[in-house]
Amino acid sequence: YYIGIDLGTSAVKLLLMEESGKICNIVSKEYPLYFPHPGWSEQNPSDWFEKSMEGMKELTAGIDRSQVAGIGFGGQMHGLVTLDKEDQVIRPAILWNDGRTGEETDYLNQVVGKDKLSAYTANIAFAGFTAPKILWMKKNEPDNFAKIVKIMLPKDYLAYRLSGSFCTDVSDASGMLLLDVKNRCWSEEMIRICGITREQLPKLYESWEVVGTLKPELAAELGFSPEVKIVAGAGDNAAAAVGTGTVGDGQCNISLGTSGTIFISSKEFGVDQNNALHSFCHADGSYHLMGCMLSAASCNKWWSEEILGTKDYGAEQAPIKELGENHVYFLPYLMGERSPHNNPDARGVFFGMTMDTTRADMTQAVLEGVAFGLRDSLEVARSLGIQIERTKICGGGAKSPLWKKMIANIMNLKVDVLEVEEGPSLGGAMLAAVGCGAYPDVETIGKKLTKIVDTVEPEPALVEKYEARYQKFRELYPTMKPLF
Ligand code: XUL
Repeated sequence: YYIGIDLGTSAVKLLLMEESGKICNIVSKEYPLYFPHPGWSEQNPSDWFEKSMEGMKELTAGIDRSQVAGIGFGGQMHGLVTLDKEDQVIRPAILWNDGRTGEETDYLNQVVGKDKLSAYTANIAFAGFTAPKILWMKKNEPDNFAKIVKIMLPKDYLAYRLSGSFCTDVSDASGMLLLDVKNRCWSEEMIRICGITREQLPKLYESWEVVGTLKPELAAELGFSPEVKIVAGAGDNAAAAVGTGTVGDGQCNISLGTSGTIFISSKEFGVDQNNALHSFCHADGSYHLMGCMLSAASCNKWWSEEILGTKDYGAEQAPIKELGENHVYFLPYLMGERSPHNNPDARGVFFGMTMDTTRADMTQAVLEGVAFGLRDSLEVARSLGIQIERTKICGGGAKSPLWKKMIANIMNLKVDVLEVEEGPSLGGAMLAAVGCGAYPDVETIGKKLTKIVDTVEPEPALVEKYEARYQKFRELYPTMKPLF
């Protein structure tokens, strides 16, 4: 058996897979997310570890636990985890959707300069990336900064606690703004710019490589063999791409989770000249471009749970009938926005209500606003000459057939629906299976173990209606920008 651990923002999702690809069990454990100031976002790494251990016990309750062979990860990206010389976490992790580093991001982009950053790392600074957070800590918490012995990403904290190996993988490391993405190694220039040392950074691996074995005392606690291999794993988007078969060249995956991403795989290294899309390493040994919205399914969660007071998303969506006709717009920037606007100060907006606007119209506007936001990133890819006709889809939001239909028509893409839409946790288990030698490489397992069961086709009349609405949506952000 192989275990995939998807260390998400709202919960850790664990998946148990047989070598054949059969999924035996899935378990999810929630943990809190803290917003100590508007625009800040933090979590306690110990929660990740404890919930993962609890989850692994539950996940394997019905099987012969000695048969677990490997564990792999997909992890929320960019989060800054720092450990002191006693291996204690110095401060809560600062997450990918945290917007506190406006000043540091401006310093990197404007003083160091976007051209240099792009030459060193293939990317520019975004507020959620790890390097600006390191600079923030240096300036605002100098005592904490002075204590740093180890810097790691969220899933690497799990690998460290489970195996004792201080490691990361190239796909996740790409989002630190410390990696020379093209050459898959640390950038000495960026290390210097951040005032850190090479020793504070983890050892780099490819996502399927074995980084160590489970610590004997944890193996005993879990009832697993101490031979269980831990593989490096990947950032959640790259892991999701593996889990949806988005491997090889020119494949596309959309993830509708807390964040919303559009992920385009590429055999060749390439950079968007405007750096609106991220250029990162893929978990299959190649590269990818990606646009990331900071709030996607989380917009719907906020709207339904916080504002309407219901968790029954299906009931809220049931009265939505007419697509392409809604007069209400929603700008989904509840945590600021990354791609393509790079503006931590952007905020959510409802626009265009009238006296006859209904609750359903506003729910529809929220779902459409997220799809329009993803279209913004797709347009950047199209402007680079990348032709995409179809996409896979995964994440909590992908459970809604209505949302998939909106995505197909707003983005004018065929949306391939997979038999299993688990994304990162499945990808993590697949990486473990490759690391343990059950499959020759990531591309092979990604293609072999994923099956398309349906395709949502765009409908020309609806595509046209949405095109007009998208052009209006596009005007709203630049108009509102001076007010944010
Ligand atoms: C990607 C990003 C998010 C997180 C979500 O750049 O920041 O998709 O990885 O967990």
